[in-house]
Amino acid sequence: MAMKIKSVDIGRLSTKNNIFLAPLAGFTDFSLRSICYDLGAGLCFTEMVSAKGLTYNNQNTKELLLTADNEYIKAVQLFGSEPDILRRACESRDLEKFDIIDINMGCPVPKVFNNGEGSKLLDNIPLAQSIVKECVKSGKTITVKMRLGTQRPSFAALDLAKAVEQAGASMVTVHGRYRDDYYRGEIDYDKIAQIKGALKIPVIANGNVFSVKDAELCLDKTGADGVMLARGALSKPWLFSEIQGIPVENKKEVINRHIDLLLTKYSDQRVAVILRKQMALYVLGQRDAKKYKQQAFEATSTKELKQIINNLVL
Ligand SMILES: Cc1cc2nc3c(=O)[nH]c(=O)nc-3n(C[C@H](O)[C@H](O)[C@H](O)COP(=O)(O)O)c2cc1C
Repeated sequence: MAMKIKSVDIGRLSTKNNIFLAPLAGFTDFSLRSICYDLGAGLCFTEMVSAKGLTYNNQNTKELLLTADNEYIKAVQLFGSEPDILRRACESRDLEKFDIIDINMGCPVPKVFNNGEGSKLLDNIPLAQSIVKECVKSGKTITVKMRLGTQRPSFAALDLAKAVEQAGASMVTVHGRYRDDYYRGEIDYDKIAQIKGALKIPVIANGNVFSVKDAELCLDKTGADGVMLARGALSKPWLFSEIQGIPVENKKEVINRHIDLLLTKYSDQRVAVILRKQMALYVLGQRDAKKYKQQAFEATSTKELKQIINNLVL
């Protein structure tokens, strides 16, 4: 069955299509989002940004808020647990340019979880609801990304999704895993389908979409309004086009553009360092992936990176 491409209405906003790029810490900066939008992504999110970090005027935090010219909808993700601090972050000048503010209720890492943030909010629905209530007061379009629960069999996401809808959230994204799973294991499409069936606002399905077929299967099995690509888009950002039936001829050009975009903001050497992790993903599936990965990690200039790219078979 071919995938149903349609726009998604998120509050007052309307996306070009229903294939989204996930927030990915360390990856989804302005440059990656820009190439994904060029390749046809309907909506792209920044990586998670600390609401507290914003109130402390942290410089590293601010770099995460750089945006690209072609971001026709700008979406930022925040994490935190204090409703008041999150609302103030939503109202801050730093986030003025963003149309959508997503609240992270899925991050599993101990540093975040043990702080009562991210996926820990699945265990505290009243708090999660008041966070959304407060953030909505900012006048921004508020969305929420969550997991199914912290650990099986607690399926807290169903109640959490209803609670945040009631609090004024305009969309929910469900990563079909539990906190305990981290990033391993199967996706529970049935549970995402249950959430979709219980809400009026759009529900986006996320998890294990690495190919065109995966995207079709995910939409088919969940009945969700759209899919969100995460790790799949890191090694193959052209999936956004391919899922929509548009072949991408020159994939090397895409990667080179990724480098050139970073060069508009950072020094050549810094770009080489920033791109190391991403290069390791771009070369996944290559016959000589290990060799290319090694070369990319040793590269100190973008010229060297571009030479590696030139040798890839994409
Ligand atoms: C390196 C990495 C960083 C991530 N950072 C975030 C983040 O900042 N915010 C968030 O909501 N999810 C984050 N996630 C989770 C992804 O958005 C997504 O929900 C998860 O990877 C499942 O999708 P996938 O199986 O298609 O990769 C991250 C995942 C990875 C692998």
